[in-house]
Amino acid sequence: MTGTARQYVRFLFLKLESAWRRLEADEQARQKVQFATTLLSFRAKLLLRTYSLSGTRGDADLLLWQVSDDLEVFQEVQTAVFSTDLAGYLSIPHSYVGMTRKSIYQFPDRAGEADSIVVKPQDSRFLFVYPFVKTRAWYALPHEERQAMMQEHVTIGRAHPDVRLNTIYSYGLDDQEFVLAFESDDPGDFLDLVMELRETKASAYTQRDVPIFTCLQMSLWQALDAMGGRSAATLAEVVDQAGFTDVAGVGDLDGSGGLRVYCGREAIALFKVGERVFAVADSCTHGRASLSEGTVLADGCTLQCPWHEGRFDLESGRPCGGPARVPIKTFEVKIEAGRVLVRS
Ligand code: FES
Repeated sequence: MTGTARQYVRFLFLKLESAWRRLEADEQARQKVQFATTLLSFRAKLLLRTYSLSGTRGDADLLLWQVSDDLEVFQEVQTAVFSTDLAGYLSIPHSYVGMTRKSIYQFPDRAGEADSIVVKPQDSRFLFVYPFVKTRAWYALPHEERQAMMQEHVTIGRAHPDVRLNTIYSYGLDDQEFVLAFESDDPGDFLDLVMELRETKASAYTQRDVPIFTCLQMSLWQALDAMGGRSAATLAEVVDQAGFTDVAGVGDLDGSGGLRVYCGREAIALFKVGERVFAVADSCTHGRASLSEGTVLADGCTLQCPWHEGRFDLESGRPCGGPARVPIKTFEVKIEAGRVLVRS
């Protein structure tokens, strides 16, 4: 993605049929791996954040928040993941598409307005999403009157600085006018904000602002496991006498990105740099990102987390940039007969 153009945004909610949970356990794990590796193969084409709704909604289990410079990428992604075996048990209860754009209202002291066309998800634990439609009476009001009401909104929002709003515009592209996505670590803070906004003058001009989704941010692998069934971590493995586990073929690593594998119950990210293969813990120590979705920088020895650009030395696991402060675990690797073996 260019990082400078307006972006397309999709919120894709998926629901898993209960029949899937009656499949053989190994088949459940296999389908999770196939689904995740298919979806993650698009990471160079779009920004992806994954959320679980298990425990917060009855009609959706998984949210895929996708951001791209190209609208057609969303179709490519859906075609690919709906060609996996897991997709035979998935439905789409909700889907919202829109674009970024700058507001028609002026908020001179609002920080970050210049960047509002580029989506930059934070490390917040929760995302609260809902479609939003104004009444037609709102559009009949003079612009100055609407500006004053929006200013009241912004002033209330400032009293909740830990709640961050992403405004997506859907006019003409989808049924709603906006999709609002609030990031926060504290559901109570968001609840208080919404209650206060109900008291504003602009609230009288809301036609629709449901359904509302409370989503918990986690890596795709964790979100799949949150749906139930056997974890991909339990797939059969081969361990040699020295305690090394056969986790992948060298040919599975093409050098363009990481590969998530398991060693026992530990999720590991593998990276091939030249002829060497590095193995580090898959979970970032800053948030819940999967480091196998990260990038090895041009120096060949620094791994950058995909979420907030936390950096780690691939050899030692030490943090060396960004918000991460705690080292990641590293693993001993050997290569035999074209196979990658890892010892935990
Ligand atoms: S999750 Fe924040 S830097 Fe990795």
